[in-house]
Amino acid sequence: MNKTLIVSYTPRNGSYTKKVLGEFIEQVKEKTEITELDLLDSPPDLLSAAHIALTMKWNAGQREFTPQESVILERNHGMANQLLKADYLVLASPVYNFSLPAMVKAWIDAIIVSNKTFSFNPQEGFKGLCGDKKALVLLTGGFDYENGSSGAKQFASALLTENFKFMGMETTQISAFGLNENWDKANAIVEQAKQEVRALANKWY
Ligand SMILES: Cc1cc2nc3c(=O)[nH]c(=O)nc-3n(C[C@H](O)[C@H](O)[C@H](O)COP(=O)(O)O)c2cc1C
Repeated sequence: MNKTLIVSYTPRNGSYTKKVLGEFIEQVKEKTEITELDLLDSPPDLLSAAHIALTMKWNAGQREFTPQESVILERNHGMANQLLKADYLVLASPVYNFSLPAMVKAWIDAIIVSNKTFSFNPQEGFKGLCGDKKALVLLTGGFDYENGSSGAKQFASALLTENFKFMGMETTQISAFGLNENWDKANAIVEQAKQEVRALANKWY
């Protein structure tokens, strides 16, 4: 059976993001083996000086580490390994402050690991190692980015799409935007996103 990794960050009680994600899970649960990573339960480590020092050694090809160093590296490398086992990746998150919530960005920083999710050599340059996977981004936001009067922009979509592309993954995005700006239509916006989720689930599995 194919495998799906679902990564979510939905801290708000009554989360719209969780509702859209719930529809996805409902649609696919019989068709794929699901692993869920709730970033609230298992937050990635931020890239401290100790982390970066070890990452530099890892990138330079070192593979022998002390048990203490291995513990530090493994917390984030474990998340990259989790992605490597999946055929499909689903990331569900709200937009915060026109970008990704820090917890989600920390997960991105954790999974972009040399010789796991990407490689580099001077001849070939950078190469994504996740080209066998498909990614779905489920994003929600308070602003209406298409028809709203504020002219606001959000960078969460571009940030995710670019990082997934770097790892070789093609990304589909389903968004429920305008949930706060058009608060009286919030349920309809969520329903529209759920409909798109159903269509994608049928296409993918
Ligand atoms: C800390 C914080 C920052 C937010 N910043 C933005 C933002 O920049 N753009 C936006 O469209 N919505 C923003 N929102 C609104 C949420 O994205 C929106 O309400 C979304 O539906 C929340 O997802 P949830 O229902 O899963 O909690 C913000 C909400 C919070 C709590």
